[in-house]
Amino acid sequence: MIQAAKHEKVLVRVRINGKLYAEEVEPRRLLSDFLREDCGLTGTHVGCEHGVCGACTVRVNGAAVRSCLMFAVQAADAEITTVEGLSLDGSRHPLQDALSECHGLQCGFCTPGILMSAAEFLEEHQDPTTEQIQEMLSGHLCRCTGYKGIVEAIAKVAKEQKDR
Ligand code: FES
Ligand code: FES
Repeated sequence: MIQAAKHEKVLVRVRINGKLYAEEVEPRRLLSDFLREDCGLTGTHVGCEHGVCGACTVRVNGAAVRSCLMFAVQAADAEITTVEGLSLDGSRHPLQDALSECHGLQCGFCTPGILMSAAEFLEEHQDPTTEQIQEMLSGHLCRCTGYKGIVEAIAKVAKEQKDR
């Protein structure tokens, strides 16, 4: 349990994409700002800052969460994966390839958040229906693509996983 006076900074230690980070932050520091500004991981995008658009989604202890709705101190000692963590060895994640192949992105603003939710979704759904994919994507706003290519990309990776 972390306790601090209102403006007193607290030390937050987290493991992000396998690497340890330790930063002093104000208790009100959002996890999204912590990741982008304190840790330099700008792959996580911030759109609405109100939990609506899904752009800021990262995985905290495996769960896809909106990092604009969480304080950095709440993630203390957690294992976090950001979009940078999907391609640590320099090769693209299958979802990244599929989004590219299926024309599932244009400006790319929504893409990091969708990737993180889709990665969690595919771990939990071996053979998802189109409706299940659409339902998962209902938590992510994309102003460019019309979603068709994104749905196709996720279905493609699901099929590849199933056929393996
Ligand atoms: S920036 Fe977090 S949900 Fe939109
Ligand atoms: S690709 Fe532009 S918002 Fe989704």
